[in-house]
Amino acid sequence: MPLEKAQIIEDGKAVGLTWRSGETARFHALWLRDNALDGATRNASNGQRLITVLDIPAATRLSAADISTGGDLTLRFEPEGKSVSYPASWLARHIYDRKSDGRHGWVAPQIATWDGTLAAKTPVIAHERARTDRAAFGQWLAGIRRYGFGVMTDMPTTSGALIEVARMFGFVRETNYGKWFEVRAEVNPNNLAYTNLGLQAHTDNPYRDPVPTLQLLACLENTVEGGESVVVDGFRAAERLREEDPKGFSLLARHCARFEYAGSAGVRLQSKRPMIELGPDGELIAIRFNNRSAAAFIDIPYDDMEAYYAAYRRFAGIIEDPALEITFKLKPGELFIVDNTRVLHARKAFSSSGSRWLQGCYADKDGLLSTLAAIEHEGKEAA
Ligand code: FE2
Repeated sequence: MPLEKAQIIEDGKAVGLTWRSGETARFHALWLRDNALDGATRNASNGQRLITVLDIPAATRLSAADISTGGDLTLRFEPEGKSVSYPASWLARHIYDRKSDGRHGWVAPQIATWDGTLAAKTPVIAHERARTDRAAFGQWLAGIRRYGFGVMTDMPTTSGALIEVARMFGFVRETNYGKWFEVRAEVNPNNLAYTNLGLQAHTDNPYRDPVPTLQLLACLENTVEGGESVVVDGFRAAERLREEDPKGFSLLARHCARFEYAGSAGVRLQSKRPMIELGPDGELIAIRFNNRSAAAFIDIPYDDMEAYYAAYRRFAGIIEDPALEITFKLKPGELFIVDNTRVLHARKAFSSSGSRWLQGCYADKDGLLSTLAAIEHEGKEAA
């Protein structure tokens, strides 16, 4: 949408813009100078900035603001005497002139929180389709971005096949558990995951900093009774806690919990992070929830501890609400992937007769989101 009007305001420290659509927004001269799109400010091929903030005169002011016949903006910056043009569409995409609403626990627009009714809409793709149909693969990845959860079917049931799945969109995060880990009942296990006990809904490895942001779990054999997998949207649980008990929500967000793991020789992992992590602007960033690896909490003031435990209990109760759960039994050749900063997973107890063999690995969201953005970009270029 082209611009209609540009007016220098605040003694040249800012400009007020009006688009032909009627939309208005102010931009600061310093911000505009820092984000100049000319070849001396940004590399033409990779878009990386060539100047530092110290290269911009602190007294930067606007001395002229003109709109071209095409509706784009040209500004003149003093004391540099430099003219820079900005497409109207670029400015519209980068508007920041909004009031902060002070909300806490909000989620990004591309995210949708869910309860158990998501089961019918779970993003699912067959392995062969994911390999050969890039658009369909992109839709599956977009589903994972939206819901933090997805399923792949018809995978090879060969050991390590999940590594190839992770490589389709990103990179495996190797840990002390190896490139991947075996999930089957063991004698003297170093982790309760390797028993036939049920496991309460949890996020994995909160004792790492940073935590692995994606987990993949693939099924190779499953003939046991029970052993169903359960996933719960931790963001939805946090939203419910915020609605029902805003003070409790705030306690879990404001104070750090502690997590630790020391099950194997030579490994002592420890972290200090909140159960509900918010960004400085109130965005819901991450959930860390894991009864098995929660350490003694020592960063909560005495006067808040009782209320903190009440909030922890309330949050756990919401997470256990069957209405929030999706329950399914993985078949050989099926894999599920979760956003481990958001979606909790659980396992029901299973019989000691029969066999249950899963393999898990970790990867990170940045790789998945980058691959998805590249596929979406290709789609726009082709359109
Ligand atoms: Fe787990």
